[in-house]
Amino acid sequence: MKLPVYLDNNATTPVDPRILQEMLPYFSERFGNAASRTHSYGWEAEESVDAAREQVANLIGAHPQEIVFTSGATEAVNLAIKGIFENSERETKHMITVCTEHKAVLDSSNHVERLGGTVTYLPVDANGVINLTDLENAITANTILISVMYANNETGVIQPVREIASIAKNHLIPFMSDATQAVGKIPVNVQNDGIDLLALSGHKIYGPKGIGALYVRKKNPTIALTAQIDGGGHERNMRSGTLNVPGIVGLGWACEIADTEMGRESKRLAALRNAFEVELLALQDIEVNAEDARRLPHCTNISFGQVDGEKFIFEAGSDLAFSRSSACTSATLEPSYVLKAMGFSDERIHNSFRFSFGRFSTEENVNHAVSVISRIVKQHRHERNHGHHPIV
Ligand SMILES: Cc1ncc(COP(=O)(O)O)c(C=O)c1O
Repeated sequence: MKLPVYLDNNATTPVDPRILQEMLPYFSERFGNAASRTHSYGWEAEESVDAAREQVANLIGAHPQEIVFTSGATEAVNLAIKGIFENSERETKHMITVCTEHKAVLDSSNHVERLGGTVTYLPVDANGVINLTDLENAITANTILISVMYANNETGVIQPVREIASIAKNHLIPFMSDATQAVGKIPVNVQNDGIDLLALSGHKIYGPKGIGALYVRKKNPTIALTAQIDGGGHERNMRSGTLNVPGIVGLGWACEIADTEMGRESKRLAALRNAFEVELLALQDIEVNAEDARRLPHCTNISFGQVDGEKFIFEAGSDLAFSRSSACTSATLEPSYVLKAMGFSDERIHNSFRFSFGRFSTEENVNHAVSVISRIVKQHRHERNHGHHPIV
């Protein structure tokens, strides 16, 4: 078994070897520019991009022409939020989002505020879920966008996307969902779910880093955006720049494989995750955060009572790779704003960790994780009660 065991698949996933194989020729012999119209190198690249566009669209129930390739979900979210804001001709512009969104959404929303817009950041309950009445009440005549993530990166909590979409539709407001953590893990369908704009990313679904997509609804209603990157009119004028053909091919296959394997894989991962939780809960004074919410099947966020969070990470480090908060904010050492919004005390947040399993996680990995964590938790509790003597 390779150590440390990787339990941080919400941060990123390794590229699936099947996907890497599909990508490799596009770095060498099939190196054409998808915008070259005068020779077969370009045509071949364009055909491959078209095929990938279809694979991505199929996974989320979209039409290929509604897929705009970007450098990742962060860029997709920036394009959606800033693009809608800039495109709107209203004098006063208001948008609604949620305080537990990823920084890509929160920082783009802050940007909109700096440009003179107003933003409502909805609170969440103890399970991390928004209240639909709060959403209704936040809507004004000037609301130009509602942006609610599909599933949270730290807790796996799934928002009531269809209900949100229906409220947005009743008020004729575009609904965008950052579905970076949900796509490829649970069924996501822009038609059934009523989503008008959706962000997704390659590296969360065993594809490469540096590639993602924004779904932009073409009909019922047509969503218009102002491009945020100009220069050549690629991607139906929404995102200029030479296409990242190997990345796009990789994203396409990542979507196709996820589509084919999701049913079986989500059951397998839910069984691993549930077993992990049950084993740890037996240690007592341990809580699964947002346990009662609908959650992604492959991840869990757990608070450990009577442990020293800092030491816990340090001591587990050579055996287990997991995270305290999201990878993007863990460098700041601030307590997770997601758990804070759920009303948790600083102490509980300090002792909360995210474990996210993935395609390459095995039962052996989970058993190892349980045994390492149990040992550390027991040791910390022993030290609290008896000073620094090892358990014998
Ligand atoms: C919910 C969510 N949105 C957006 C992103 C950003 O994705 P990318 O790394 O593709 O820019 C992430 C990744 O951390 C995420 O978890």
